[in-house]
Amino acid sequence: MLVVNKTYSLPENFSATGLNPLALESFNKLAADASLLGLKIMCSSGFRSYATQNTIYNNYVASDGVEVADTYSARPGHSEHQTGLAIDVNSISNDFIGTPECEWLAKNAHKYGFIIRYPKGKESITGYRYEPWHIRFVGIDTATAIYNSGLCLEEYLDIDSFYR
Ligand code: DAL
Ligand code: ZN
Repeated sequence: MLVVNKTYSLPENFSATGLNPLALESFNKLAADASLLGLKIMCSSGFRSYATQNTIYNNYVASDGVEVADTYSARPGHSEHQTGLAIDVNSISNDFIGTPECEWLAKNAHKYGFIIRYPKGKESITGYRYEPWHIRFVGIDTATAIYNSGLCLEEYLDIDSFYR
């Protein structure tokens, strides 16, 4: 499995240039099924290049400082968005928490191959604050196993996530 976190990075020239086709197709299915229930789940941020992540991260550092920025934004080379396997849905903010879309996504994303990558209560393990809007494609079997385990990806793979 391709793992990207604070410990594991991608090179500046990593080959992805857009969302992974299977991840995109799976997300479209997820959004279509949610829509049948009257829920609106949309992709607000998908693939990001190294350069884009660099700009985003540096802007956050400029406004909040490195220590705080590191709790919610990945340094360039360390964002899952650079893999084309991660999607941020809807508002990408705490406004999303508690919405019907947030509840549905948490209970159903695995059926489409996605996990909630930065769960509540796992902040010290993933290295990031709770982000219920950030989903990561790992395939249905793995997503279901992780969902049923109650573990975050780092625990499931027995790896860590911190900058050296
Ligand atoms: N918000 C996540 C951690 C990222 O920047 O990739
Ligand atoms: Zn994200």
